[in-house]
Amino acid sequence: MSELHETAKALVAEGKGILAADESTGTIKKRFDSIGLESTEDNRRAYRDMLFTTPGVEEYISGVILYDETIRQSALDGTPFPELLASKGVIPGIKVDQGAKPLALAQNETVTEGLDGLRSRLEEYRNLGARFAKWRATYSITGSLPSDYCIWTNAHALARYAALCQEAGIVPIVEPEVLQDGTHTIERSYHVTCRVLDALYTELFDQRVDLFGTLLKPNMVLSGYEASDRAGAEDVADWSLKCFYKHVPAAVPGIVFLSGGQSDEDATAHLNAMNAKGPHPWQLSFSYGRALQAPSLKAWDGKPENVEAGQRAYYHRAKMNSAARSGLYAPAMEREAVTA
Ligand code: 13P
Repeated sequence: MSELHETAKALVAEGKGILAADESTGTIKKRFDSIGLESTEDNRRAYRDMLFTTPGVEEYISGVILYDETIRQSALDGTPFPELLASKGVIPGIKVDQGAKPLALAQNETVTEGLDGLRSRLEEYRNLGARFAKWRATYSITGSLPSDYCIWTNAHALARYAALCQEAGIVPIVEPEVLQDGTHTIERSYHVTCRVLDALYTELFDQRVDLFGTLLKPNMVLSGYEASDRAGAEDVADWSLKCFYKHVPAAVPGIVFLSGGQSDEDATAHLNAMNAKGPHPWQLSFSYGRALQAPSLKAWDGKPENVEAGQRAYYHRAKMNSAARSGLYAPAMEREAVTA
């Protein structure tokens, strides 16, 4: 089996998922603002060091997505972060897109940039230890959006990125995120997510991408966050699975969800509900940012004396999501951990 296939499978190994710690400098500033911490390079390094050195978390975490600054940084003990992760059997990954920018001649829609020079950046990242990458496109739901123009332009860019990754020996995670802000119904989220995935897999096929060496990182199909009557976990699982069964080829080894704006416990419960209805043609796993980190960031609060508390909170969320990989999570497990 090719290295790409092996890496993709290892990232969705039983009971394991991915930590997305690839917040750009702008995004990590927002996260630090929530605890009143200044976003300096040293603080960013200390925070990532806390997460990556969490004892035993590699039982639940297969890979970590890094940001350009982080893949070049070293842990507090001097070990380069990619080396530290690899020494624990955790696969280093890298965010390679350069953000969603306004789409020309469109209103309120974006296209993700970063293709220019990507071939040489991928070569450098591979030399720095990266074995997988991420590219995120975003789509907003309104009465009339997203447009076909936005859907196809982003699908084309995602496929160009994926082809360049495979040429460089890097597994592409393709991330088409249909944003769930708004008052839309779960049916509307379903239809938009179906259209987005359909365009994506058409472009991936046309651009000769080997799906066995890719992973999909989609949104879950949800009611809008501001909708009045929001669907529960069973409906989220049913609509999401219906969408993926119809639009994601079985050659894709794994679907690794983003958490979007869901609470950490909702993100776990929804993943669990989907896996409880398995087995499925692909592994259903997680690649959460906020849903793995939020309680940890709060417990750490930017203070060296809280590193252990921050690590305990991260370890706990990783363990809960690992249980959700096999449909064995129950909300009572959250309370047991608190009293333990
Ligand atoms: P969230 O889980 O916080 O949505 O982040 C995942 C991610 O990598 C978004 O690109």
